[in-house]
Amino acid sequence: MDPAEVPPPLALVDVTKSFGSVRALRGLSLELRSGEIHALVGENGAGKSTLVKTIAGVHRPDGGQVLVDGSPTGFAAPVDAQRAGVAVIYQEPTLFPDLSVAENIFVGRQPRTRLRTIDRARMRRDTEEAFTRLGVDMDPDRPARGLSIADQQLVEIAKALTRQARVLVMDEPTAALSGVEAERLFTVARTLRDSGAALLFISHRFDEVFALCDRVTVVRDGAFVSCDPTSDLDVDTVVRRMVGREVTSLYPKEDAERGEVLLEVDGLTRHGVFADVSMKVRAGEIVALAGLVGAGRSEVIRAVFGVDRYDAGTVRVNGETLPPGRPRAAMAAGIALVPEDRRQQGLVMESSIERNATATRRWPLSRLGLLRPRAERDSARDWGERLSLKFGRITDPVSTLSGGNQQKVVLAKWLSTDPRVLFVDEPTRGIDVGTKAEVHRLLSTLAGRGLAIVMVSSELPEVLGMADRVLVMHEGRVTAELDRDEADEESVMYAATGQRPNEAA
Ligand SMILES: Nc1ncnc2c1ncn2[C@@H]1O[C@H](COP(=O)(O)OP(=O)(O)OP(=O)(O)O)[C@@H](O)[C@H]1O
Ligand SMILES: [Mg+2]
Repeated sequence: MDPAEVPPPLALVDVTKSFGSVRALRGLSLELRSGEIHALVGENGAGKSTLVKTIAGVHRPDGGQVLVDGSPTGFAAPVDAQRAGVAVIYQEPTLFPDLSVAENIFVGRQPRTRLRTIDRARMRRDTEEAFTRLGVDMDPDRPARGLSIADQQLVEIAKALTRQARVLVMDEPTAALSGVEAERLFTVARTLRDSGAALLFISHRFDEVFALCDRVTVVRDGAFVSCDPTSDLDVDTVVRRMVGREVTSLYPKEDAERGEVLLEVDGLTRHGVFADVSMKVRAGEIVALAGLVGAGRSEVIRAVFGVDRYDAGTVRVNGETLPPGRPRAAMAAGIALVPEDRRQQGLVMESSIERNATATRRWPLSRLGLLRPRAERDSARDWGERLSLKFGRITDPVSTLSGGNQQKVVLAKWLSTDPRVLFVDEPTRGIDVGTKAEVHRLLSTLAGRGLAIVMVSSELPEVLGMADRVLVMHEGRVTAELDRDEADEESVMYAATGQRPNEAA
């Protein structure tokens, strides 16, 4: 049969969806074809995840239709979508922390033995098989608690694989993955495509969209803008359609006068996690911690801030030693940490946007001089505005915000505390191209005002554009310290993979 005559496994026709006064989807149509990877791109809050949840049966559309194999269906619940062969990997992994990895993969559909008990051996075997296909080395019996976001994401992908999905929807699956891990995922995605599955891929990284996807649909403010084969498009065109204006995604750091050493970390060690990490960061400087996911970068800054313990070493802020394991002492000394996992560590989902953005006011900020609550609230709102936060009302729960906008609330929350030393873990993860340069500009301005900034980033262009100095970590150790003019793609990648370029001693 002519492939054009086969109805697509999944299509949306003229779908609308509102949340109160927010019109998240305004008559969107989209067709997912077998043997194709389809990209969906748009700014933060454009409606991408809402569309995903409509496909998944989480949301019922207000109007329009979801067609499966050409027939109208009403998914009343996620289980209906799953039965129809639709698997969804959400923007935020949703694992049960107390269940094992294998139990999470088979939750709600555990295989049974002939005696009707749960067939653990089979669960483990199938999990291992999925991991092998993904090239993942993880113990199926370990609890999900404590897994990195990257690993949680891989568990979600393994879950979809074991479901033999015909339609696989991935909402920013690579946001927390390193280049190597993302490549591995792409290999799996291509294999699934070539075996006839229909894939929908959402990402704010255009290099991935262009490397992986066959067609690209652009949405803006919940409305369809365009759909074209990737080969007919270039990045600038896509960005222009998304944002409706010209933007740059990078904003290189401006030169700032370097002041005194504000942060001094000496020989910091946590057995089995990182060892002998030292750094000095001056006022006006941005130091990047580069490396692959799992190199121990987040762990180091969490230990410095006091949320995790360490076994040896010292941390000094402004010449004074910080007591280990005491985040409040760190805050009082003027340190702020924008964490990597914003949902778990950064936000109270059921609280309002406003409360979350001003949450740090609950702690005494004596060293900084006490800010009046009113002033701080205004400042949080102000940051929100500067980061073009998109929301209905500032009193709405933060859970109603789109993923990227939740990230911005966490940034606003910490920036409004007026810190002296700022740690940012993946500052632009999940943030759209239009706002990315704005975040970079903010960091640059803050450094210019005399902050010492430590940035963990897996995006090489961001590292190279923003850092005065780059510390590269590999397996818990600093393998290179590069000045701005020494750091390039090659030198950072070499050190990140534990290799040394030939000319280096
Ligand atoms: N449950 C909800 N209640 C109220 N508003 C919501 C809800 N879910 C989404 N919205 C709103 O709908 C709009 C679209 O959000 P959506 O999450 O679909 O955006 P997105 O394109 O996925 O953005 P991002 O790139 O940031 O992930 C946003 O304005 C968001 O605040
Ligand atoms: Mg989203």
